[in-house]
Amino acid sequence: MGRRTLIVGNWKMNGLIETAQEFADAILTGLSARAGRFVQCEVVICPPATALYVLNQRLGGSSVKLGGQNISEHESGPHTGEICGIMLRNVGCRFVILGHSERRATCGEDNETVGRKMAAAFRDGLQPIVCVGESLEERDLGRTLEVVEGQIEALIPYLPVHAAKRPLLVLAYEPVWAIGTGRNATPEQIQEVHGFIRQRLEGELGADAQKIRILYGGSVKGTNARSILALKDVDGGLIGGASLKAADFLAIIDAVPEKF
Ligand code: PGA
Repeated sequence: MGRRTLIVGNWKMNGLIETAQEFADAILTGLSARAGRFVQCEVVICPPATALYVLNQRLGGSSVKLGGQNISEHESGPHTGEICGIMLRNVGCRFVILGHSERRATCGEDNETVGRKMAAAFRDGLQPIVCVGESLEERDLGRTLEVVEGQIEALIPYLPVHAAKRPLLVLAYEPVWAIGTGRNATPEQIQEVHGFIRQRLEGELGADAQKIRILYGGSVKGTNARSILALKDVDGGLIGGASLKAADFLAIIDAVPEKF
């Protein structure tokens, strides 16, 4: 299959400089003690923008990569309060989370906006991690696949023209009702949506769909990560709460199955 497992920590609006430095030291120590396992997966931390510089100083040159939590679709200019992709690259980022449900719900980000931001990430040399997922109401109405399909379809026109770049896209399926709630989707529910996303991508992108990583997010922790990460079309996790403490995050890395 050949898709390397990707474990991404989304700190959301948590973490000051001191805690970020302590986390970096703890994660480096923890990973060096697990060198063999670490190569099984790629590890990315997405802290608040204010902690990126210092984390880059601590983690730059290590195998732990950095990502942002959002970018503007613009390259520069009069956009007060915004950060562009080049700025994230400037502080060592390789990835950026886009279209997280918290931003879709509170910052007016619709499917089109997320598509434009994804195009901006590719333009600026960042790997986008685009979040999709249904609300509880949508699931209860039996609309899960339809909602996710709409979110994926909206991205297609914004994918890079160069087909070789398309496999750099990362998708994250995050059922909104499982985020930060401690409520878990069942392995069957997760595989159903991941398999559907893969099939939908195949219809649009052909063989490249096999190279695109699809992460699962929503109350993933050390105790449930093993059964989720072992699923056929799950290529890693987007971790919120359990990424804030190095020990909890390392427990998820320890649960990465050997898929090769
Ligand atoms: P959670 O958050 O792990 O705290 O549920 C996941 C996310 O929002 O990316």
